[in-house]
Amino acid sequence: MLPTRIIEKKRDGGRLSSDELAAFLRAYLEGSVAEYQMSAFLMAAFIRGLDPAELSVLLREIIDSGARLRFADDGPPAVDKHSTGGVGDKVSLILAPLLAEAGLRVPMMSGRGLGHTGGTLDKLEAIPGFNVSVDLARFQAILDEIGCAMIGQTKEIAPLDGRLYALRDVTGTVPSPALIAASIVSKKVAEGIGALVLDVKCGRGAFITDRDQARGLARTMVDLATAEGVRTSALLTAMDAPLGRTVGNALEVREAIETLRGGGPADLREVTLALSAELLVSVGHAADAEEAAAELGAILDGGAALERFARLIEVQGGDPGVADDPGRLPAAPIREPFPSPGSGWLDVDARTVGVASVELGAGRRRVEDAVDPRVGFEFHRRAGDRVSEGEPLLTVHAADAAGAATAAHRLTDAIRISPEPPASQPLILERIVG
Ligand code: URA
Repeated sequence: MLPTRIIEKKRDGGRLSSDELAAFLRAYLEGSVAEYQMSAFLMAAFIRGLDPAELSVLLREIIDSGARLRFADDGPPAVDKHSTGGVGDKVSLILAPLLAEAGLRVPMMSGRGLGHTGGTLDKLEAIPGFNVSVDLARFQAILDEIGCAMIGQTKEIAPLDGRLYALRDVTGTVPSPALIAASIVSKKVAEGIGALVLDVKCGRGAFITDRDQARGLARTMVDLATAEGVRTSALLTAMDAPLGRTVGNALEVREAIETLRGGGPADLREVTLALSAELLVSVGHAADAEEAAAELGAILDGGAALERFARLIEVQGGDPGVADDPGRLPAAPIREPFPSPGSGWLDVDARTVGVASVELGAGRRRVEDAVDPRVGFEFHRRAGDRVSEGEPLLTVHAADAAGAATAAHRLTDAIRISPEPPASQPLILERIVG
């Protein structure tokens, strides 16, 4: 196998045979294909795309590059959820303990914030002491004890993806539907799950703004995971305005706790229940989504999912007291209200809010940056509300006065007051099944 021949073939729009692609990927893992050659290949694949046969070879090679978890067939069904990334999306923090409480097993491996969107690991680390870096043996033990575990990517799972993703990140080749699909689905299959739900965010606050493209990515991922024997469905959900009332790590944990207690904002509860219901139905624990959502809603209202979350926090080294007293979460010293610039109907642009939250320190500008768990935004009014000039629309939580002022300046681009009420749009846009 000559690496240059493979690169040229993909560059010129040719179709690689299974043997060619597998040999190229293995040679890369062994060190006989250089990083610059893989970079060139990724760009060729980005531009030319991968056909279904090539995609399934890539998927298989990524899975086989590392360990694959296995769960006993007679134990609780193992399930997981993946979101393509949004602003204010704290669904994972609620869904994992909720489904564990409903009798499922949730081996959740999550990521950090990407671009203007937040990441589950950064949110969990806002809980004092919470450890997301555990090895596979400990991960399994936590799953056996609690029914769910929430950790970061381990070195043992899909190491080829880790290397490819690092290259894509610096070569402008992240937003390729084929490469994204292989990257995401491989890690979920390696978790050993039997059912998966994908939350494909669509709208101005999502990485994919176009509905057809979002549908295409969802279809590719659903088909890929289904072919691997994982029962998979996807929901396309709206990401035009932030989900829930908070953006920022500790603030989002607080809101997740409220929702686990049966409260929380209606949109967050709706998306969480819809995604969780997909999984309950997939594993045959409920006849349909309506029945599943009713069962899961009752669990939230009864408080048992919050208790399970507290147990999870404790076994992962965190302070379980935050579940009863969110005042124990880190809090920002500066709180500045942001007044409405006019009277009318409020519109909030999720992307600009996400960018402002990164500037405030809730996300990273560079991978090596630390995040400040305390900072973010707490909305008192939501997109679609009728508001009056001067009333506080939100509170900026900042580390210092300069940060609060910069954020307020950026927010002037995120907030629009319109004389007309907005057209109402459903939160769950579409459902795609295998
Ligand atoms: N998240 C992933 O895990 N992989 C991608 O390629 C993009 C987002």
